[in-house]
Amino acid sequence: MTLTPDRIPAAASQATTDSARDAATVPLASPREGSSQGLRFERAQWASAFRNVDLELTAVPLQATRGTIPAALNGTLYRNGPGRLERAGHWVHHPFDGDGMITALRFEGGGLGLSNRFVRTEGWQAEEGAGRYLYRGVFGTQKPGGPLANAFDLRLKNIANTHVVRLGDNLLALWEASSPHALDPDSLETRGITLLDGVLKPGEAFSAHPRFDPGHHGAPRMVSFGVKSGPRSTIRLMEFATDGPKAGQLLSERSDSFNGFAFLHDFAITPDWAIFLQNAIAFNPLPFALGLKGAAQCLRSKPGGQARFWLVPRDSGAHAGEAPRVLDAPEGFVFHHLNAYQEGEEVVVESIYYADFPSIDPETDYRTVDFDLIPAGLLERCRLNLAAGTVSSERLSERCCEFAMVNPSQQGLAARYAWMAVAEREAGNDPLQAFKKLDLRSGERRVWSAAPHGFVSEPLMVPRPGASAEDDGWLLAVVWNGERSGSDLVILDAASMAEVALVELPLAMPYGLHGSWSQA
Ligand code: CO
Repeated sequence: MTLTPDRIPAAASQATTDSARDAATVPLASPREGSSQGLRFERAQWASAFRNVDLELTAVPLQATRGTIPAALNGTLYRNGPGRLERAGHWVHHPFDGDGMITALRFEGGGLGLSNRFVRTEGWQAEEGAGRYLYRGVFGTQKPGGPLANAFDLRLKNIANTHVVRLGDNLLALWEASSPHALDPDSLETRGITLLDGVLKPGEAFSAHPRFDPGHHGAPRMVSFGVKSGPRSTIRLMEFATDGPKAGQLLSERSDSFNGFAFLHDFAITPDWAIFLQNAIAFNPLPFALGLKGAAQCLRSKPGGQARFWLVPRDSGAHAGEAPRVLDAPEGFVFHHLNAYQEGEEVVVESIYYADFPSIDPETDYRTVDFDLIPAGLLERCRLNLAAGTVSSERLSERCCEFAMVNPSQQGLAARYAWMAVAEREAGNDPLQAFKKLDLRSGERRVWSAAPHGFVSEPLMVPRPGASAEDDGWLLAVVWNGERSGSDLVILDAASMAEVALVELPLAMPYGLHGSWSQA
């Protein structure tokens, strides 16, 4: 449906009422967190973002609530994330189990329009029709009916909720355990599951974390992978053209097998290498098969286990055709990398480390989670000396962070700046409430904060067209405004981190996962 501006207040107040009722059911042990150093956030405001999106909007024109939308910003910000967290009174066990919903924010000459659509996955359509959950979720959501209803139901519901990227004529909604869904980049209508012109086998895993090589070997490329895990794990590395008449075509691929189970959510690239970090974790499928836990809840840290870096030579690089290199990695768990680059004999990898695998107990409601009991994500730099086979590491910041990126033109190179989402306090785990620009050489930081009422998600750095300075551009992000129970688009100056514009969106969206910028 298209929402006309005069209907926005009614829809928004309806959403607020639903949320207020839901938030009130959350037991609040410490409703105002951070008493020792002033109020950082109210748990009810943080938890009020966990809700259903009930609207699908088409090209709704928007005005800046504060500031001015830059006229030089021309393109589309695509976001993906869970948009449906409840059916028939049954809530997902973890928001990562929510159905994927795509939001497109189109910028043109200072104007802005918003569209959003759920991905019409097979599971979403079936459950919409039935009005209840028919599938289990990987992160622990069970069908109603207890273990007996869930035991030996090993079907995966491809929820297409993790990332969204443009490849050729398609917008791809990605979910790492299975095939991408193709969408129309303009209308956001779902075209269906795509095997990328026969590149993928039906049901083959395809990562939700492609990396975009800005052109280290001529033309830009999308580099991605699929992983088949077991006692031995196989990584299939794939490189696709992104520009010109070949856009979307597979340019090269290779497959490599490694010892041990692998849970690989993300990876990093340099001109010569694709770098994977095999976390020291084990997978026990029994509780999943018996209907007691979701598949991702069966991952556990392996005591005494050794993490490893797996370096796969890229086909276009200096080590093309050579065997992969394997090096021992430091302790800790990594979901996301910031960047990687080469320096002489060294490959340098910057990643967000957790002291342990952060899992959610089957008995725990995620909205009541004790942040102090979950390890904080901390940015670290590992230097891999390929000649000596040694690895050293250093911490780059003590502040809890996630969703970090460099200027896209510096992907695979020694970038000077990083932008990321961080907690409001300097140390300890908390919800993400601020954005930080970090000078990776000097350690200098600049922070824009949405605390105490705002809660942030992944920021994207968009370079200004024709810019020469690495930090010349904007930082774009969607922020949950806990005070008005709605989502805001925030535009910052990427160099100074000053607010350029804030747009109150006519949608109230749960915290999103990943997104991308598509230049007009
Ligand atoms: Co991710």
